[in-house]
Amino acid sequence: MTIAVSLPAEDKTEWWCQMLRDLMPDWKIEPLDKVEDPDAVTYTVVWRPATGAMTPFSNLKAIVSLGAGIDHVLADKQLPQDVPIIRTVGTDLTQRMKEYVALHVLRHHREMPAIEANQGRKLWEQIIVPPATQRRVGVMGLGNLGSAAAELLSQIGFPVVGWSRSPKELQGVQCYSGPDGFKSFLEGTEILVCLLPLTDSTRGILNADTFNQLKRGGSIINAARGPHMVDSDLIEALNSGQIGAATLDVFHVEPLPDTHPFWSNPKITVTPHIASMIDAPTGSKIVAKNIRIFEETGTVPDLADAKRGY
Ligand code: NAP
Ligand code: GLV
Repeated sequence: MTIAVSLPAEDKTEWWCQMLRDLMPDWKIEPLDKVEDPDAVTYTVVWRPATGAMTPFSNLKAIVSLGAGIDHVLADKQLPQDVPIIRTVGTDLTQRMKEYVALHVLRHHREMPAIEANQGRKLWEQIIVPPATQRRVGVMGLGNLGSAAAELLSQIGFPVVGWSRSPKELQGVQCYSGPDGFKSFLEGTEILVCLLPLTDSTRGILNADTFNQLKRGGSIINAARGPHMVDSDLIEALNSGQIGAATLDVFHVEPLPDTHPFWSNPKITVTPHIASMIDAPTGSKIVAKNIRIFEETGTVPDLADAKRGY
């Protein structure tokens, strides 16, 4: 009964191992690259595992993704097939994402980047913006995170529209779904928030065609995954004024390379994939609970659908 743990940094792996050992004293918890008996491993707990990292484990019951997304697990082309993937989600993750989205939507809405730049020049310029009730915000993805963020934005006073794969009903949110609903969802939207999972259908969805359907001068907030964005289309849209500003938390390559133009673009705010990261003290409790429930019942509510991609 071994659980193999793998995060990109050794100290983080050790931190998670220690937390899980405290919560699961009957299990052997080992860093994935130091496993002594691969046949004893029945669960892996991973964030961005290396290609082929899980092939030695022939008795895997489930893979636990340390996060809401599973794209980083599915990226492993040698991933053992038909092993269930458990997402690590919860109120902690949702709360953090709500904070991030509200912070950055309000920041764009109230023109804070311009006001901060004016302070640097000692410039007293009263930038008067319309009230939130006149600024339409669109949330792409209405799952755990998107629906909570959309409802919060509606409570603040924004007219909120949301877009998902299947039809939804949410308090205070006008919901659209599927490719047929995309155009109406975008039309008149001024601040676009992406909280979609990364799948074959959503890769590159933040592109020129999408930007051109938004209200001119609008803002983009991408807190989902870097490959949702076509980087060159964003730069062009910022240069042309079609998009006024962007806040980006996720990137094609992370950490964002020094040479990437996003770092120095005055219209872009870069945050280092911190919108909502689960930490070991909270996350280990969710992981331990999910493994216990999976052992007892053979499933958990937060099971991902690998074929669907999320
Ligand atoms: P979720 O509960 O699985 O919800 C995904 C939502 O996206 C669902 O509403 C789904 O529609 C919709 N969707 C999927 N494919 C679509 C498509 N082709 N067209 C339209 N809508 C589509 O996911 P979540 O827990 O909210 O997390 C969303 C993503 O946020 C994660 O996958 C991850 O990439 C990202 N994330 C980022 C951070 C960060 O710190 N930056 C933290 C956590 C998560 P249905 O409801 O119809 O299925
Ligand atoms: C973080 O990015 C997550 O997927 O939870």
